[in-house]
Amino acid sequence: MGKRVLIAPSLLSADWGCLAQSVRSIGELGGDIVHLDIMDGNFVPNITFGAKAVRDLRKESSLPFDVHLMVARPESCIESFATAGADYITFHCEATVHVHRALSHIRELGKHPGISLVPSTTVDALSEILELVDIILVMTVNPGFGGQKLIPGCLRKVESLRNLKEKRGFRYLIEVDGGINRETVRQAIDAGAEVIVAGSAVFESPDPRAEIKALRGDA
Ligand code: DX5
Ligand code: ZN
Repeated sequence: MGKRVLIAPSLLSADWGCLAQSVRSIGELGGDIVHLDIMDGNFVPNITFGAKAVRDLRKESSLPFDVHLMVARPESCIESFATAGADYITFHCEATVHVHRALSHIRELGKHPGISLVPSTTVDALSEILELVDIILVMTVNPGFGGQKLIPGCLRKVESLRNLKEKRGFRYLIEVDGGINRETVRQAIDAGAEVIVAGSAVFESPDPRAEIKALRGDA
Protein backbone atom coordinates (compact mmCIF):
# COMPACT_ATOMS: atom_id res chain seq x y z
CA MET A 1 0.00 0.00 0.00
CA GLY A 2 1.38 3.39 -1.02
CA LYS A 3 0.80 6.43 1.10
CA ARG A 4 -2.36 8.47 0.63
CA VAL A 5 -2.14 11.10 -2.09
CA LEU A 6 -3.47 14.60 -1.51
CA ILE A 7 -6.09 15.90 -3.94
CA ALA A 8 -5.95 19.59 -4.86
CA PRO A 9 -8.93 20.66 -6.99
CA SER A 10 -8.12 23.72 -9.11
CA LEU A 11 -10.60 26.59 -9.09
CA LEU A 12 -9.68 27.39 -12.69
CA SER A 13 -12.44 25.11 -13.94
CA ALA A 14 -15.01 26.05 -11.27
CA ASP A 15 -17.95 28.36 -11.96
CA TRP A 16 -16.55 31.80 -11.19
CA GLY A 17 -20.04 33.12 -10.66
CA CYS A 18 -19.96 31.32 -7.33
CA LEU A 19 -16.29 31.00 -6.40
CA ALA A 20 -16.94 31.18 -2.65
CA GLN A 21 -19.26 28.19 -2.87
CA SER A 22 -16.70 26.33 -5.01
CA VAL A 23 -13.99 26.88 -2.39
CA ARG A 24 -16.30 25.63 0.35
CA SER A 25 -17.24 22.62 -1.74
CA ILE A 26 -13.64 21.39 -2.02
CA GLY A 27 -13.55 20.39 1.64
CA GLU A 28 -17.12 19.14 1.61
CA LEU A 29 -16.38 16.88 -1.36
CA GLY A 30 -13.30 15.33 0.22
CA GLY A 31 -10.53 17.44 -1.32
CA ASP A 32 -7.40 18.17 0.74
CA ILE A 33 -6.01 21.38 -0.71
CA VAL A 34 -7.42 24.38 -2.62
CA HIS A 35 -5.34 25.02 -5.77
CA LEU A 36 -5.45 28.62 -7.03
CA ASP A 37 -4.02 29.39 -10.46
CA ILE A 38 -2.75 32.95 -10.78
CA MET A 39 -2.14 33.96 -14.40
CA ASP A 40 -0.94 37.38 -15.56
CA GLY A 41 -1.52 37.34 -19.34
CA ASN A 42 2.24 37.67 -19.77
CA PHE A 43 4.02 34.55 -18.49
CA VAL A 44 1.00 32.65 -19.80
CA PRO A 45 -1.60 33.79 -22.34
CA ASN A 46 -4.50 33.95 -19.90
CA ILE A 47 -5.55 36.10 -16.95
CA THR A 48 -7.21 34.87 -13.78
CA PHE A 49 -7.37 36.56 -10.40
CA GLY A 50 -5.10 38.35 -7.94
CA ALA A 51 -4.37 38.60 -4.24
CA LYS A 52 -7.66 40.27 -3.33
CA ALA A 53 -9.63 37.29 -4.61
CA VAL A 54 -7.37 34.97 -2.61
CA ARG A 55 -7.90 37.07 0.52
CA ASP A 56 -11.66 37.15 0.10
CA LEU A 57 -11.83 33.40 -0.56
CA ARG A 58 -9.55 32.57 2.37
CA LYS A 59 -12.40 32.82 4.88
CA GLU A 60 -14.42 30.18 3.00
CA SER A 61 -12.21 27.20 3.90
CA SER A 62 -9.73 26.01 6.47
CA LEU A 63 -7.92 23.81 3.92
CA PRO A 64 -4.41 24.81 2.83
CA PHE A 65 -4.33 27.31 -0.05
CA ASP A 66 -1.87 26.27 -2.76
CA VAL A 67 -1.13 29.37 -4.83
CA HIS A 68 0.37 28.55 -8.23
CA LEU A 69 1.87 31.72 -9.66
CA MET A 70 2.06 31.68 -13.45
CA VAL A 71 3.33 35.22 -13.59
CA ALA A 72 6.43 36.97 -14.88
CA ARG A 73 8.73 38.34 -12.14
CA PRO A 74 6.89 36.58 -9.30
CA GLU A 75 9.05 38.33 -6.70
CA SER A 76 6.91 41.43 -7.15
CA CYS A 77 3.75 39.77 -5.84
CA ILE A 78 4.95 37.14 -3.35
CA GLU A 79 4.31 39.32 -0.35
CA SER A 80 0.76 40.22 -1.37
CA PHE A 81 -0.20 36.55 -1.80
CA ALA A 82 1.43 35.67 1.53
CA THR A 83 -0.57 38.39 3.25
CA ALA A 84 -3.72 37.25 1.44
CA GLY A 85 -3.47 33.87 3.17
CA ALA A 86 -1.59 31.53 0.84
CA ASP A 87 -0.02 28.52 2.59
CA TYR A 88 2.05 27.25 -0.34
CA ILE A 89 3.43 29.79 -2.81
CA THR A 90 4.79 28.17 -5.96
CA PHE A 91 6.31 30.10 -8.85
CA HIS A 92 7.97 29.07 -12.10
CA CYS A 93 11.74 28.81 -12.28
CA GLU A 94 11.43 30.10 -15.87
CA ALA A 95 9.83 33.33 -14.64
CA THR A 96 12.73 34.88 -12.71
CA VAL A 97 16.52 34.84 -12.55
CA HIS A 98 16.36 35.18 -8.77
CA VAL A 99 14.87 31.83 -7.83
CA HIS A 100 16.94 31.47 -4.65
CA ARG A 101 16.04 34.93 -3.41
CA ALA A 102 12.33 34.46 -4.11
CA LEU A 103 12.22 31.06 -2.35
CA SER A 104 14.02 32.50 0.67
CA HIS A 105 11.56 35.39 0.76
CA ILE A 106 8.59 33.02 0.82
CA ARG A 107 10.21 31.11 3.71
CA GLU A 108 10.88 34.35 5.61
CA LEU A 109 7.21 35.22 5.24
CA GLY A 110 6.36 31.96 7.04
CA LYS A 111 4.97 30.20 3.97
CA HIS A 112 5.86 26.98 2.18
CA PRO A 113 8.05 27.74 -0.85
CA GLY A 114 7.36 25.85 -4.06
CA ILE A 115 8.91 25.77 -7.52
CA SER A 116 7.34 24.73 -10.80
CA LEU A 117 8.63 23.55 -14.17
CA VAL A 118 6.98 23.89 -17.58
CA PRO A 119 7.16 20.77 -19.78
CA SER A 120 10.32 21.90 -21.64
CA THR A 121 12.37 22.57 -18.48
CA THR A 122 14.48 19.75 -17.06
CA VAL A 123 14.87 18.76 -13.41
CA ASP A 124 18.54 19.83 -13.64
CA ALA A 125 17.33 23.44 -13.49
CA LEU A 126 16.42 22.81 -9.84
CA SER A 127 19.64 21.14 -8.70
CA GLU A 128 20.82 24.08 -6.57
CA ILE A 129 17.55 24.70 -4.76
CA LEU A 130 16.16 21.23 -3.97
CA GLU A 131 16.73 21.62 -0.25
CA LEU A 132 14.97 24.98 -0.16
CA VAL A 133 11.54 23.92 -1.38
CA ASP A 134 8.59 22.27 0.36
CA ILE A 135 6.82 21.39 -2.89
CA ILE A 136 7.79 20.88 -6.53
CA LEU A 137 5.00 21.29 -9.07
CA VAL A 138 5.66 19.40 -12.29
CA MET A 139 3.46 20.81 -15.04
CA THR A 140 2.11 17.97 -17.11
CA VAL A 141 0.63 20.36 -19.71
CA ASN A 142 1.83 23.74 -20.95
CA PRO A 143 0.47 26.19 -18.38
CA GLY A 144 -2.31 28.63 -19.14
CA PHE A 145 -5.50 26.66 -19.61
CA GLY A 146 -7.50 23.89 -18.04
CA GLY A 147 -8.81 20.88 -19.89
CA GLN A 148 -5.65 19.99 -21.84
CA LYS A 149 -4.23 16.52 -22.43
CA LEU A 150 -1.43 15.25 -20.18
CA ILE A 151 2.01 15.10 -21.82
CA PRO A 152 3.21 11.65 -20.67
CA GLY A 153 6.95 12.45 -20.99
CA CYS A 154 6.63 14.95 -18.14
CA LEU A 155 6.14 12.05 -15.74
CA ARG A 156 9.80 11.09 -16.20
CA LYS A 157 10.58 14.25 -14.24
CA VAL A 158 8.30 13.07 -11.46
CA GLU A 159 10.29 9.82 -11.32
CA SER A 160 13.61 11.69 -11.25
CA LEU A 161 12.38 13.91 -8.43
CA ARG A 162 11.20 10.88 -6.46
CA ASN A 163 14.56 9.17 -6.93
CA LEU A 164 16.43 12.30 -5.84
CA LYS A 165 14.15 12.63 -2.82
CA GLU A 166 14.70 9.02 -1.78
CA LYS A 167 18.46 9.02 -2.36
CA ARG A 168 19.27 12.37 -0.84
CA GLY A 169 16.58 12.75 1.80
CA PHE A 170 14.89 15.88 0.47
CA ARG A 171 11.54 16.70 2.04
CA TYR A 172 9.64 18.31 -0.84
CA LEU A 173 6.24 17.07 -1.91
CA ILE A 174 5.91 16.18 -5.59
CA GLU A 175 2.83 17.70 -7.24
CA VAL A 176 1.48 17.16 -10.75
CA ASP A 177 -0.74 19.64 -12.56
CA GLY A 178 -2.49 19.38 -15.91
CA GLY A 179 -4.50 16.73 -17.68
CA ILE A 180 -4.99 14.60 -14.59
CA ASN A 181 -8.20 12.57 -14.54
CA ARG A 182 -9.24 9.08 -13.45
CA GLU A 183 -7.54 7.59 -16.54
CA THR A 184 -4.17 9.35 -16.15
CA VAL A 185 -3.83 9.63 -12.37
CA ARG A 186 -2.45 6.12 -11.85
CA GLN A 187 0.59 6.78 -14.08
CA ALA A 188 1.26 9.99 -12.14
CA ILE A 189 1.04 8.26 -8.74
CA ASP A 190 3.16 5.35 -9.93
CA ALA A 191 5.80 7.84 -11.05
CA GLY A 192 5.86 9.36 -7.56
CA ALA A 193 3.24 12.13 -7.46
CA GLU A 194 2.03 12.92 -3.93
CA VAL A 195 -0.22 15.92 -4.61
CA ILE A 196 -2.67 15.70 -7.49
CA VAL A 197 -4.07 18.88 -9.01
CA ALA A 198 -7.27 18.40 -10.99
CA GLY A 199 -9.40 21.16 -12.47
CA SER A 200 -11.73 20.01 -15.23
CA ALA A 201 -11.84 16.42 -13.97
CA VAL A 202 -13.42 17.62 -10.72
CA PHE A 203 -15.40 20.72 -11.63
CA GLU A 204 -16.75 19.53 -14.95
CA SER A 205 -17.80 16.19 -13.52
CA PRO A 206 -21.50 15.53 -12.85
CA ASP A 207 -20.33 13.94 -9.57
CA PRO A 208 -17.26 15.78 -8.22
CA ARG A 209 -17.24 13.76 -5.00
CA ALA A 210 -16.95 10.48 -6.90
CA GLU A 211 -14.28 12.03 -9.09
CA ILE A 212 -12.16 13.00 -6.07
CA LYS A 213 -12.54 9.47 -4.71
CA ALA A 214 -11.52 8.01 -8.05
CA LEU A 215 -8.45 10.27 -8.23
CA ARG A 216 -7.42 9.03 -4.81
CA GLY A 217 -7.84 5.46 -5.99
CA ASP A 218 -10.72 4.79 -3.56
CA ALA A 219 -13.46 4.32 -6.16
C1 DX5 B 1 -3.04 25.08 -15.90
C2 DX5 B 1 -3.21 25.15 -14.41
C3 DX5 B 1 -3.91 23.99 -13.83
C4 DX5 B 1 -5.27 23.71 -14.39
C5 DX5 B 1 -5.36 22.24 -14.60
O1 DX5 B 1 -2.11 25.99 -16.34
O2 DX5 B 1 -1.98 25.28 -13.72
O3 DX5 B 1 -3.95 24.04 -12.40
O4 DX5 B 1 -6.35 24.12 -13.59
O5 DX5 B 1 -6.52 21.97 -15.28
P1 DX5 B 1 -6.89 20.50 -15.74
O6 DX5 B 1 -6.89 19.64 -14.52
O7 DX5 B 1 -8.23 20.68 -16.36
O8 DX5 B 1 -5.84 20.07 -16.75
ZN1 ZN C 1 -2.03 25.05 -11.42
